[in-house]
Amino acid sequence: MTGLLRLIVLLCGLCLAPAALAEGDPEAGAVKAETCLGCHGIARYKNVYPTYKVPKVAGQSADYLVVALKAYQSGERSHPTMRSQAATMTEQDMQDIAAFLSQYSGDM
Ligand code: HEC
Repeated sequence: MTGLLRLIVLLCGLCLAPAALAEGDPEAGAVKAETCLGCHGIARYKNVYPTYKVPKVAGQSADYLVVALKAYQSGERSHPTMRSQAATMTEQDMQDIAAFLSQYSGDM
């Protein structure tokens, strides 16, 4: 009986684990996202060389933004500029920035 109880407790712990992940703090994210505005804040901004458009990140889902930032950090996404942006971010930084950007309605 105690064995079964333990198993139940263990399984419940596993189900609850994702809910325990850090929630992003949009106010902290607003400060951390200041450097991002330089590129992502300019509507239809294009670099002269190499010629690329900066994608709109405001209003996107926070989960998507975190996944994207992790992909730059791990090298799965290879864009050098964004790799260096994401290189030093902690999980909490990403959550905060994503929480801010997902609520931000300006051109970013
Ligand atoms: C020097 C310009 C520049 C700066 C500064 C910059 N970015 Fe980017 N960002 C880009 C470009 C260019 C891309 C498109 C890269 C690609 O094609 O993968 C991009 C892509 C992204 C994407 C993926 C968007 C998508 O639709 O998949 C996210 C998320 C992102 N940036 C977030 C940020 C955050 C957060 C910051 C600040 C910490 C930041 N960026 C700072 C230029 C910049």
